[in-house]
Amino acid sequence: MATVRDIREKAGDERITMLTAYDAPTAGIVDDAGVDVILVGDSVGNVVLGHETTVPVSVDGIAHHVGAVSRATEDALVVADMPFLSFGVDEKDSLENAGRMLKEEGAEAVKLESGPHTVELTEKMVQLGIPVMAHLGLTPQHVNQYGGYPRQGTDQAAAERMLELAIEHEEAGAFSLVLEHVPSNLAAEITDALDIPTIGIGAGPHCDGQVLVFDDAVGISEWTPTFSEQFGNVRAEMESAVNDYVSAVESGEFPADEHSHEESDLEELY
Ligand code: KIV
Ligand code: NA
Repeated sequence: MATVRDIREKAGDERITMLTAYDAPTAGIVDDAGVDVILVGDSVGNVVLGHETTVPVSVDGIAHHVGAVSRATEDALVVADMPFLSFGVDEKDSLENAGRMLKEEGAEAVKLESGPHTVELTEKMVQLGIPVMAHLGLTPQHVNQYGGYPRQGTDQAAAERMLELAIEHEEAGAFSLVLEHVPSNLAAEITDALDIPTIGIGAGPHCDGQVLVFDDAVGISEWTPTFSEQFGNVRAEMESAVNDYVSAVESGEFPADEHSHEESDLEELY
């Protein structure tokens, strides 16, 4: 069983692998492959639940998926992504929502989309025994503020501010930091400045680890961001299986005798 300490100790040493999973069979596949961290991302909103963004994801909603993933994971560290407004509004609610992921759903840590408002909250969670993965750069819960998904930290002032926030979150006790959609030289500088590992997505090759959305990585998603890579073509496999099923039922090829229960000794009914 990987712990947050195992992940922290890999920084600067061994590369860290992280993928999302939202359900038990997927978590089983990811875990069996030896992935270090499974993130039950709020990307479940747009990847699985048919929403446009992650904004509508609820605490009950993410909890449902965290439970499924935790039950199917033996070795990886399971991290629950805290949804929009489930943290940062009220301290008591923030702590209870995050604590629930560990206490009731089997996660071992939470991830917070971070900013100036999460430094103290991170410290408080860590004091209470809730390990926190920080997340800087593009934080998709701000989509309405950004008006899209622009790259972050592209000017000197923004880059300096991001480095400062990264250090503040490390000091607050975060065990790792996701860097999303930032220039690779900025990701390299932040990685150098921190003792905790950085885990990149759209952040270049210099982070300590990498995270992708499962459906993008295996090729289920119809559309994949340019910073991602399809390591398989699972969607094509699924489409072909469903097409074959439809043809087989329509043609009467399936089900055949071999798929059926033996006939009973029923007398003719009419
Ligand atoms: O929700 C998610 O999948 C994420 C990762 C892409 C970091 O936050
Ligand atoms: Na997320």
